[in-house]
Amino acid sequence: MIRFGRTFNMRSFRNTFRLTLALGFVLGMSLEAKTMISKKPFGKTADGAAIDIYTLKNDRLEATIITYGGRVTTLKAPDRAGKPADVVLGFDSLDGYLGDNPYFGALIGRYGNRIGHAKFTLEGHTYSVPANDGGNSLHGGLKGFDRRIWSATVDGETLVLTYLSKDGEEGYPGNLTTTVRYSLPGNELRIEYSATADKPTVANLTNHSYFNLAGQGEGDVLKHEVTLLADRFTPVDKGLIPTGELKPVAGTPFDFRGAHAIGERINQVNEEQIKLGKGYDHNWVLNSGGGALKLAATVHEPSSGRVMEVLTTEPGLQFYTGNFLDGKITGKGGKVYKQRYAFCMETQHFPDSPNKPAFPATELKPGRKYQSTTVYRFSAK
Ligand code: GLA
Repeated sequence: MIRFGRTFNMRSFRNTFRLTLALGFVLGMSLEAKTMISKKPFGKTADGAAIDIYTLKNDRLEATIITYGGRVTTLKAPDRAGKPADVVLGFDSLDGYLGDNPYFGALIGRYGNRIGHAKFTLEGHTYSVPANDGGNSLHGGLKGFDRRIWSATVDGETLVLTYLSKDGEEGYPGNLTTTVRYSLPGNELRIEYSATADKPTVANLTNHSYFNLAGQGEGDVLKHEVTLLADRFTPVDKGLIPTGELKPVAGTPFDFRGAHAIGERINQVNEEQIKLGKGYDHNWVLNSGGGALKLAATVHEPSSGRVMEVLTTEPGLQFYTGNFLDGKITGKGGKVYKQRYAFCMETQHFPDSPNKPAFPATELKPGRKYQSTTVYRFSAK
């Protein structure tokens, strides 16, 4: 028979047990996914402006973000065995970002996506913006937010980037004061956008990260399985401007209401919309309707097991499958980026909204605040 020593009594055992639990809880909380942020120089632009790179790191994810274009330059997430890989395309040094590239990792503004005929009318004034995509304007013009230098500060576990876009910049009316907050709560990359203007203007901000959940440069994304919570999409004309119709996805290659591999229907060029987009390069009308932060998309990469969920307050999602990548860009670690080596999930208001009164409005009036949140959440199965 086991006899306890004289010092044992049930009450002190219980108290010790409680204390241990409480300590464990406090320790656990403070250890859980605390994000450390550090800063280093990342080179200089042609006119000598210093660019910094910030590293955000917790026990699950690591991201680097540069002040040039507020670009996410690396994002490391674990696979099902816990092995991290960098899941976004980009460059090892600033030169790559300064050179020609399709918005790798960048913040996009003042108006993400396209404005038809590079013109829109607000309160009786017609504004012309740069026609940098055929006759249309794409992603804020010739020098959009992706090629601007953002001011950075660290607020606790959040990297805060700000940029003042001056009245008339790239043709847009009004001074726009923009703030983007990047953070890594647990297994999420969270991006919170806000902006105010001193004249009526339009705003549609997004991030243009190119994801490959098998690891950047590790082949095409055709086997990635995608689910989109959208019953409709916005079909486009040959310049990729929405026709205005909100078309049901049912019975088309745009139906991702159940999971489908990207490659399953991407080459159905007898489908006019696939042909026009050279694959997927369309805006899906999210069932959430925008407003609250809700799940919009899930992507699963079968070989690594990585899963990325996209949550957003935006009503739309541009799902783009890297159709214009053509092997001419060599990125991080000498990887060559060929067609469909990545996909983008650009949360946004619909393209050409300033010219489509039936679409959710993108006008921002003085005294109002533009606010938008998107979360990229990582797990593995
Ligand atoms: C967006 C557009 C695409 C393309 C890329 C950049 O996703 O919709 O058509 O312009 O940006 O190459």
